[in-house]
Amino acid sequence: MDRYGVFGNPIGHSKSPLIHRMFAEQTGEPLSYEALLAPLDDFRGFAQAFFRDGKGGNVTVPFKEQAFELADELTARARLAGAVNTLKKGDDGRLLGDNTDGAGLVRDLTVNAGIDLRGKRILLVGAGGAVRGVIEPLLAQQPASLVIANRTVEKAEHLAQVFDSLGPVVASGFDWIDAPVDLIINGTSASLAGELPAIAPSLIEPGHTVCYDMMYGKGLTAFNRWAEEHGAARTLDGLGMLVEQAAEAFFLWRGVRPDSVPVLAELRRQLAA
Ligand SMILES: NC(=O)c1ccc[n+]([C@@H]2O[C@H](COP(=O)([O-])OP(=O)(O)OC[C@H]3O[C@@H](n4cnc5c(N)ncnc54)[C@H](OP(=O)(O)O)[C@@H]3O)[C@@H](O)[C@H]2O)c1
Repeated sequence: MDRYGVFGNPIGHSKSPLIHRMFAEQTGEPLSYEALLAPLDDFRGFAQAFFRDGKGGNVTVPFKEQAFELADELTARARLAGAVNTLKKGDDGRLLGDNTDGAGLVRDLTVNAGIDLRGKRILLVGAGGAVRGVIEPLLAQQPASLVIANRTVEKAEHLAQVFDSLGPVVASGFDWIDAPVDLIINGTSASLAGELPAIAPSLIEPGHTVCYDMMYGKGLTAFNRWAEEHGAARTLDGLGMLVEQAAEAFFLWRGVRPDSVPVLAELRRQLAA
């Protein structure tokens, strides 16, 4: 059995063990996958000890930047994201760092939800680690525009500058924009506290605009409830992104692409129960 796991602190809430065990069962890949509570003051030492026999790992809050530092090599998308959510030990013992969050979001939007992002006006709300990881994959879909709006506007301006050469990306404050867009993606952690980013409801064109919250939970998130109240054509949550980033990591490790559809359906069923 090859050994895998997810590093985080806290980690008890993680759905990654469930997802990867379902992928392993479905594909017949001989692997184990466990939740790993890494100490806040020594992620490096903990991860190095794991990788003496471990083959790969996922990395979650608050260690994605430290995993970026730990990796011996980085994929291009991890370098752009400035963070690593997937580590793979090569045959030579070197650690490859990847970031599959953006690919997971784009696959959830384009394949699971069937939304063509080409030519769309996209508003990305937030400017933290999750948003940084999805900018390049979103720009690769050739939207008409990608506006990054953040409460602390300097952070959005920094990101727009970093990704400027890759597509039509601009920064904004929350109260600088009010014209409708095609897609709003909430990448803030506001929903975690049941709060809302203070953006104008007029950004939603009733019956047209799709709203996506990277967060998920039982029932509608605070952001998606707000979106429905203002007439969003559809609301989607981040459970699909979670499963798709995991599928992408599984593919990197094993060279086999699992079928995410039944796994997403099972997670949705468990969440609703
Ligand atoms: N579904 C998935 O697979 C997946 C993957 C990754 C992340 N996520 C989710 O994405 C979210 C963001 O994660 P992260 O790692 O990027 O967090 P982060 O780095 O801590 O960034 C937090 C962001 O949220 C903003 N924010 C927080 N509270 C706010 C409020 N009340 N009003 C407006 N803005 C607020 C912050 O704005 P300031 O800069 O102004 O502080 C910042 O832009 C989390 O909910 C996380 O669960 C989901």
